[in-house]
This record gives sequence, C-alpha cells and structure tokens, in this order.
Amino acid sequence: QRIGVLVSGGGTNLQALIDASEEGFFAAEIGVVISNKAGVFALERASQHGIPAVVIDHRQFGSVTEFTAAIIAALKEYQINLVCLAGFLRILDPLFFLTYLNRVLNIHPALLPAFGGKGMYGHHVHEAVLRSGAKFSGATVHFVTAEPDAGPIVAQGIVAVAEEDTPDTLAERVLQVEHQIYPEAVKFVLEGRFVIDGLRVRSV
Ligand code: GRF
Repeated sequence: QRIGVLVSGGGTNLQALIDASEEGFFAAEIGVVISNKAGVFALERASQHGIPAVVIDHRQFGSVTEFTAAIIAALKEYQINLVCLAGFLRILDPLFFLTYLNRVLNIHPALLPAFGGKGMYGHHVHEAVLRSGAKFSGATVHFVTAEPDAGPIVAQGIVAVAEEDTPDTLAERVLQVEHQIYPEAVKFVLEGRFVIDGLRVRSV
C-alpha cells in the first residue's frame, strides 16, 4: 500500500506518518508528498527521508478542477492508493473524492462535528473553542467528502481545556494528539476491517 500525503506547511503530521511507516506501525510506505506551496518545511521532511516531493501550486491553475486534476495525475504517477491530507489548506474538487472514494483522510484540530467547516483551520479553531467555554477539545481523523470536515469519523482524541489556555497552548496540546491518532487511523483504514454506514464507521 502506498500513501500520498498532501501538505501546505510545517508537516508535523506528515512527520508522524513518516515515523509510523518507518517503524512498521502500519504496512504502507509514504510514496509521495504533494505541497501546494514551495519552500514549506514539510518538503524538507520528505527529502530528509528520501520521499519524492512535488509542488503543485494552486495559483498556476485556472480552476479548482484543473488544480485537482493535476494532483490526481501526480498521485497516479506514484501509484498511490490512500491519500492523507495533513495541514493541507486548499479545497479540492469533488472529482478527487470520487476518484479516491473512501480513500482520502483528513485530520482536523477539533472534535468534529463541532468547530468544523468554513474558516475553521489553524488558530481560528482554537480561538473558537476557547470562546465557547468548552471544557474539552481534541482532534479528529475523518474520511474526506465534498463537504469540508463532514465525512465519516475514523478516530478522535481529546484534551482538557485549561482555564489559562491560549490558542497557542491549546494548539500545541491538540497537535500532540493529532500525531498520535493519525497513524492509528491510517493503520485502521489500511487493515480494512470496517464498514461505512452513512456517517458511521463500524468495525467488522
Ligand atoms: C495544524 O493547525 C494542525 O492542527 C492541522 O494543520 C495544521 C498544520 O499541521 N492539522 P502540520 O504541522 O503541517 O501537520
């Protein structure tokens, strides 16, 4: 099994997946890393581990559909059969999820379905959680569908929200949970012992 990881930034989730693959935690290799931005540290992480890295700059395409088609072409070139979005900040055409039906995962830094959807990425999520007075937050790995942050949930991890938390301190604790649940979710999906029933992912 070959995993393609889509990134836009620092790539700490990519690093967690690289480490898990190299440790044999799951039976798959990272076949390619695709970034929509050049010069991001995620690309450095890929090259440090001898993983092919491709920059597909969304600004060079006339539409989301063409951008998406370019990403699909790259994934096929590297014989990818499971896609992990990891800090990837662009919207993709539904063509993507139809091509890789139930083979695209994303990690979101909150307990979906709460604190998801439009504009909910990075620190905006943690600011909203703190403003809400919620006592817990966490991270979610879910199958990606055409609607952002709304696909069937595969794994979640929780953290307590502390009185003195700032978006930065909460983000840091949530990120640690992300790095733990993403490899676990990938292993679960690769082993395939589940059915998707509407929004439910049920082990079989
Ligand atoms: C972080 O906000 C993380 O919570 C979310 O994407 C952003 C960057 O993650 N998943 P990464 O360090 O690039 O994996």
